[in-house]
Amino acid sequence: MEQIKTNKFKKACNLLADNSCLFRAIIATIFQTITMARAGFRIALLQLKVGANKQQNIENALTKIRSAVTDKGARIVALPECFNSPYGTQHFPAYAEEIPTGETSRSLAAIAKELGIYLIGGTIPERCATDSKLYNTCTVWSPEGALMATYRKIHLFDINIPGGITFRESDVLTGGSDLATVAIEGAKIGIGICYDIRFDELARLYRNQGCDMLIYPGAFNMKTGPLHWELLARGRANDTQSYVATISPARDASAGYVAWGHSMVVDPWAKVVAEANETEDTVVADVNLATVDEVRAQIPIFSQRRTDLYTTNAVEK
Ligand SMILES: *[C@@H]1O[C@H](CO)[C@@H](O)[C@H](O)[C@H]1NC(C)=O
Ligand SMILES: *[C@@H]1O[C@H](CO)[C@@H](O)[C@H](O)[C@H]1NC(C)=O
Repeated sequence: MEQIKTNKFKKACNLLADNSCLFRAIIATIFQTITMARAGFRIALLQLKVGANKQQNIENALTKIRSAVTDKGARIVALPECFNSPYGTQHFPAYAEEIPTGETSRSLAAIAKELGIYLIGGTIPERCATDSKLYNTCTVWSPEGALMATYRKIHLFDINIPGGITFRESDVLTGGSDLATVAIEGAKIGIGICYDIRFDELARLYRNQGCDMLIYPGAFNMKTGPLHWELLARGRANDTQSYVATISPARDASAGYVAWGHSMVVDPWAKVVAEANETEDTVVADVNLATVDEVRAQIPIFSQRRTDLYTTNAVEK
């Protein structure tokens, strides 16, 4: 179908352009623009070990970021959820910092600038400067060390699985109310955090905004991890025909909250293209934006939705 269109277009161009060199050049330029494949970038996901020592957690992140860039050539580096603090409501107040003045923000800004990379700064417990409320927050840093975006986890992790796991983030955290996207290397990237990945509506809103990739720092556990981690990452990739990256801390069996690990990159076909196991590791993948365009052209569900019958739209605040 695409090929037939292209041939017809070429024929039409030749016919029209026969008389004029200039005209031919213009047509060639237009044709090139239409058919030009989008490029991409290399991303590294850092599945970091996280312990009780905040300074050590930050130092470890900086070392692994440096190696992901110098040894593996990453252009974008993404960190896990809660990488400077053990994950647990009892820990958040003590580890929380203001953004961007806290020590974690300052370290991330400096390394992004030093290496000239984009840095998706996982999440940290954030203390809001104006009202002292706590949030679970992701920061994104530019190659100049500037804060490009902050995203506060929208859906708080409150679950109760008797005999499995009970957790109530809402005991200490407040939920955010804003989506966050960043434009990086020709891609538009939407940010979510962990439990947010269960809400396909959020992914849908990002797709509506034209995102090519969704990045979710997250820490699933030994109950929900094996059941849902890959399912949800592939689910969101399938629904939105986007790349999806999930970044977990490494598993520490002695921790209060034991993370599943398995950080991964899923492509717009919903295929897992790179994945860690549970150990501390760096997952590297080449994100190819032409693949996003290819999947969307070949299975055009976005334009085939019956928006006369159903829609998912952002609510005006
Ligand atoms: C894949 O995405 C399509 C389009 O949004 C959706 O209808 C379908 O239910 C999804 N399949 C799975 C297995 O999630
Ligand atoms: C887990 O991944 C690490 C790092 O890639 C590797 O060295 C190790 O062999 C893997 N473990 C298993 C059980 O596959």
